[in-house]
Amino acid sequence: MVYQIYPRSFADSDGDGVGDLAGIESRLDYLADLGVDVIWLSPIYRSPQDDNGYDISDYRDIDPMFGTLADFDRLLAGVHDRGMKLIMDLVVNHTSDEHPWFVESRSSPDSPKRDWYWWRRGSGDGAPNNWGSIFSGSAWERDTTTGEYYLHLFTRKQPDLNWENPQVRQAVHELMNWWLDRGVDGFRMDVINLISKHAGLPDGTVHPGDLYGDGSPYYANGPRLHDFLREMDEAVFAGREAELLTVGETPGVSVDQARLLTDPRRRELDMVFQFEHVELDQGSGKWDVRPLELVDLKGNLAKWQYGLADVGWNSLYWNNHDQPRIVSRYGDEDFWYESATLLATVLHLHRGTPYVYQGEELGMTNYPFRDISEFRDVESLNHYRQAVAEQGLDPQSVMRSLRAMGRDNARTPMQWDDSPNAGFTTGTAWIAVNPNHTWINAASEIHDPGSVLAYYRRLIALRHDDPVLRDGEFELLLPDDPTIYAFTRTRPGSRLLVVANVSGESCTLPFEPEGDVVIANHLGPEGADLRPWEARVYRQEAGHG
Ligand code: GLC
Repeated sequence: MVYQIYPRSFADSDGDGVGDLAGIESRLDYLADLGVDVIWLSPIYRSPQDDNGYDISDYRDIDPMFGTLADFDRLLAGVHDRGMKLIMDLVVNHTSDEHPWFVESRSSPDSPKRDWYWWRRGSGDGAPNNWGSIFSGSAWERDTTTGEYYLHLFTRKQPDLNWENPQVRQAVHELMNWWLDRGVDGFRMDVINLISKHAGLPDGTVHPGDLYGDGSPYYANGPRLHDFLREMDEAVFAGREAELLTVGETPGVSVDQARLLTDPRRRELDMVFQFEHVELDQGSGKWDVRPLELVDLKGNLAKWQYGLADVGWNSLYWNNHDQPRIVSRYGDEDFWYESATLLATVLHLHRGTPYVYQGEELGMTNYPFRDISEFRDVESLNHYRQAVAEQGLDPQSVMRSLRAMGRDNARTPMQWDDSPNAGFTTGTAWIAVNPNHTWINAASEIHDPGSVLAYYRRLIALRHDDPVLRDGEFELLLPDDPTIYAFTRTRPGSRLLVVANVSGESCTLPFEPEGDVVIANHLGPEGADLRPWEARVYRQEAGHG
C-alpha cells in the first residue's frame, strides 16, 4: 500500500503555516501503524511554488520551506527504520522557468541549452500553433528576450523540456541516479507520457466551446515514449540491486498502452496511473460536472482489471492531490462513515497496488468553498479568470464546478485533531482548514474501533495477509445493476466475494451470499439484504457460492 503525502499540507513543525519534512518525520509512527509499505512524497525540491512544487528550479536541493537535505536524510532513515520505503515525485516533463537550464536557454538563440526546451518563432503575429495549456490559455508564451515562443503544457512558469535532445535525457538520468544513490526507493513520474511530442507540433482540433486547440493527440503517448523509458531503465535502474518502485502518471492512456508500459519484460514502468475512472463524472471536460453512473464505474474498473490480468499491473486509487475527496464525490456525506468505508472496500479488493492519499483514511471531505478568494491552486484560479473574464460564463456556475472538482479540496490541511488549526500548524495555515476537523480527525479516530481509520487499518492488514487479494483472478458480477457493486477474487482453493450497496436506499441481492464475513462496514444481519452503503467481503471455498 502506497500512502501519498502532500508535504505542504501534512504537518508543520515550525509554525510558518506550511507543512515540512520535520513534520512528516514526527508522524511516521502513525503511518507505520496504518500499515503503509511505501510513502510517496509530492515534490519537495527547490521551487518557486507556482504549481506547489511541480515547477522545480533545483532537482538536487530541498525547498527551504520544507527543510534541508539533512532533514531529508533523517526522514528517509526514519522511514527505513520502520520498514517502509519512500519514493520521490519526479517532474521532468517540464522544469520551472527559474531553473538554470531554462534561464540559460532563454538567454539567446545561440545558447547551448536553447534546444533543451521547445522554442519556435510565432506564426504571423500569434503563437506557433493553436494548442491550449492544460491550465487555461495558450500553451505558448512569447519571450521578450528574443521574441520567440516557448511551449508550456502547464503554467507559463513550467516550460516543457525537449526530450528529443539527448543531453536533456542524460541530465534527467543523472538526477535520478543522484536520488537513488542517496537511498530513495523509486519514483512517481509526473505526466511521464507527455515527454515525447510529435515532430512538427501540428494544430489540434478546437472542440465546441473551447478557445484553443487540443494538442493532446500530438503530445500524449508520443512516438518515442517507450524508447525514452527503456533508455531510462538502462541508464538508471538496470543493475541496481535494491527493490525499487516506479509508477508513471499517464493521463489519457488506454488499456493497450498501459499493458505495454507495465509489461515487466519490457522494463519500462511497474505501473501507471490511468484516469478513466475519475473522469466518469465529467462531460466535455474537467469542469463539466455530471452525476456518476455506477454501471459505468464498475464497467470501467473491470475493463482495466481484465485488460491487465495477464500482463502488466494496475494501480488503484480514488484520491490524490489533484482530485476532489472521494467521499464527497462518489460517496454521500449523509452516509459519511458507510460510504467512505464502502468505497475503500471496493477499491482495495480489486487487483493492483492501492494508493491512499493523506486524510482519505480519515474520511476527509471536500471543503465548503464560498468564493474564489479561498482558492490557492493555479489551475482553479486560471480557469476562473478565463471562464469568467474571457468566456463570459456565469461566475456562480463556474464556482459550482470549482467546488466540485477543484484540486484545493484535496489540499486543505491534514486533520490531526480538533484544535483550531486541526493540529496541522501553530501558525496560520497557507490554505483554510476544513471546519469539520472538529469531528473528522486522527486523534478521535485512532482509538475508536468504529472509525474510518480503524476500518482502513483492517482493510490494509487483510491485503497484507491474504494472497487471494494479491493474485486472485477478478470477476465482475451483476455488471448492469445500477446500485449493487459485486465481484469475486479467486485463486485455487480460495475465493473472496465482495457485495456492496452503492446507494442511500436498502436493497436486496439477487442471491444469498455464503461464507464467513472477513470485513464489513455494518454489524448485524448478513443475509441478502443490504442497508444503505453497506459493504461486506465473504471468504468462500473456491468453487461454491
Ligand atoms: C501532474 C501533477 C499535478 C501538476 C501537473 C503539472 O498532473 O499531479 O499536480 O500540476 O502534473 O506538473
